[in-house]
Amino acid sequence: TIAPVGEETPEQLLDMIAQSVAACRQCYLCEGRTNVVPGFGNPEARVMLIGEAPGKNEDLQGRPFVGAAGKYLTELLGYAGLTREEVFIGNVLKCRPPSNRNPQPDEITLCAPFLRDQVRAIGPEYIVTMGNFATKFILRTDRGITKLHGRLEQTGRFKVFPVFHPAAAIYDRTKRESLEEDFRTLGEFLRQQ
Ligand code: URA
Repeated sequence: TIAPVGEETPEQLLDMIAQSVAACRQCYLCEGRTNVVPGFGNPEARVMLIGEAPGKNEDLQGRPFVGAAGKYLTELLGYAGLTREEVFIGNVLKCRPPSNRNPQPDEITLCAPFLRDQVRAIGPEYIVTMGNFATKFILRTDRGITKLHGRLEQTGRFKVFPVFHPAAAIYDRTKRESLEEDFRTLGEFLRQQ
C-alpha cells in the first residue's frame, strides 16, 4: 500500500531513503562499492547510533557494523542495557572509502542529505555519535571527540551523546574503558527519562 505523501511511516521513509542510496552515483565511492550500506535497525528507535563509513565486511554484506568493531559495538550496547534490535545504526558515508581512508569533505557533503533524512524519519530521542566524523557532522563543532565524549549535548530536538569510535578502542585499553563507562552513563540517562 502506498501512503499519501507526508504520511509515510518511519519504516517506509527509511526504505525510500535506502532506495535513493542504492541508486546514488554522486561521488567516486560508487565505483568501488560492492554494496551500499544505508543503515539498519529499528525505524522507531529511541537511540540512533552514527559511525563513520562502511568497512570491508560492511561493504560485502550491505549492513553497518558487522565486522570486529560491530561485534564490540554489540557488547557496548549491552552496557547501556540496549540490544541491536532496538536501535538504529547508520554511518556518515553510505559507501566504503578505498582502504578505509577517511571520508573526504566533498563525499560528506554529497552524502549528508541521506543521513539528515534518516534522522528526521526516525526522530530518535538520543543520537550517539561514534568518533570525530559523526560528532562533527551532528554537532557542527571543531572540538574533538577526546573533549566531547561522555557528555550529553542538546541540539534542537535531539540529545546528542558523543563517544569514541569502537574501532579506535579495540587495541586501546584507555579508550575501551572510556567507551564502556560512557555506554553505562548512556544507560543511566535512558533509565532516568
Ligand atoms: N566503522 C564504521 O564507522 N561504520 C561501520 O559500519 C563499520 C565500521
